[in-house]
Amino acid sequence: MGDRLTNSEEKGGGPLLNKSKDFGNMDVNLAIIGGTGYYHPRLLEDSREMTLDTKYGRAKMIIGTYGDKTVAFMPRHGDRHQLPPHRVNYRANIAALKELGIQRILSTTAVGSIKESITQGTLVIVDQFIDLTRNRQHTFYDGDDGPVYHTDFTEPYCPQLRNHLSNVLGGKGIPFVNGGTYICTEGPRYETPAEIQAFSSWGADVVGMTSVPEVTLAREAGLCYATLSMVTNLAAGISPHPLTHREVIDVVKEKINLIRELFLEVLAVLPQTRSCSCWEKEDITLEE
Ligand code: HPA
Repeated sequence: MGDRLTNSEEKGGGPLLNKSKDFGNMDVNLAIIGGTGYYHPRLLEDSREMTLDTKYGRAKMIIGTYGDKTVAFMPRHGDRHQLPPHRVNYRANIAALKELGIQRILSTTAVGSIKESITQGTLVIVDQFIDLTRNRQHTFYDGDDGPVYHTDFTEPYCPQLRNHLSNVLGGKGIPFVNGGTYICTEGPRYETPAEIQAFSSWGADVVGMTSVPEVTLAREAGLCYATLSMVTNLAAGISPHPLTHREVIDVVKEKINLIRELFLEVLAVLPQTRSCSCWEKEDITLEE
């Protein structure tokens, strides 16, 4: 995939990293994708804006340092929340991170809770997803100029990243739910109570609009990916009132500084070696 990517000039914004060789010695192997309400990394030092043009389109990010680590930060919805979930260019984002040399991604996702026991404000480290998206470019293996490849999703979210996330959360005494099924809808509308009832009967715990195809593209690209879901509201029909974006933003605002710190702590303690199998590919040269 990497050889199909080219770099481009940044229009405006901060200092420019123009060519991949400019950051080739920086060991940028960690990325944060910020969801709703998380548009700037803050705690990073020496941060610079960067734009990459990929075969799939343009991706923007901020690169900075945290201690001896170099981190890429990408606001999923753009720096002013201008992109709704169904219009995010997930392929360009993941392709750009891959081209940068990123191996691991931590992301945030705002979700509605489908279970009354998972209350507003709860953090959930999801470990499964159900994909109900409909109109998104969801694969790098579209058969155009590459092989036909079917990716295993038995363990969709990186177990090593999830483990470190849960250790850091547990170590800080922050309550969280370890494991859960994220059902991803197309949006941008919220769900009907009938849909939520159906999702509940399928075993879903939380509902959101963005984890798919981000998680699936990351795996296709061989990148580790985990998401920390923030319960911003009870889902439709469980909530005692109609849902509002205001409510979602208010909860994210309350949590976002904590999450910035948490992610950087996780990144600081992650061992260099990946002990998972997120990067492994099946040998698809089958004999006739
Ligand atoms: N549904 C879908 N996406 C969401 C929700 C929800 O209730 N809350 C935050 N993102």
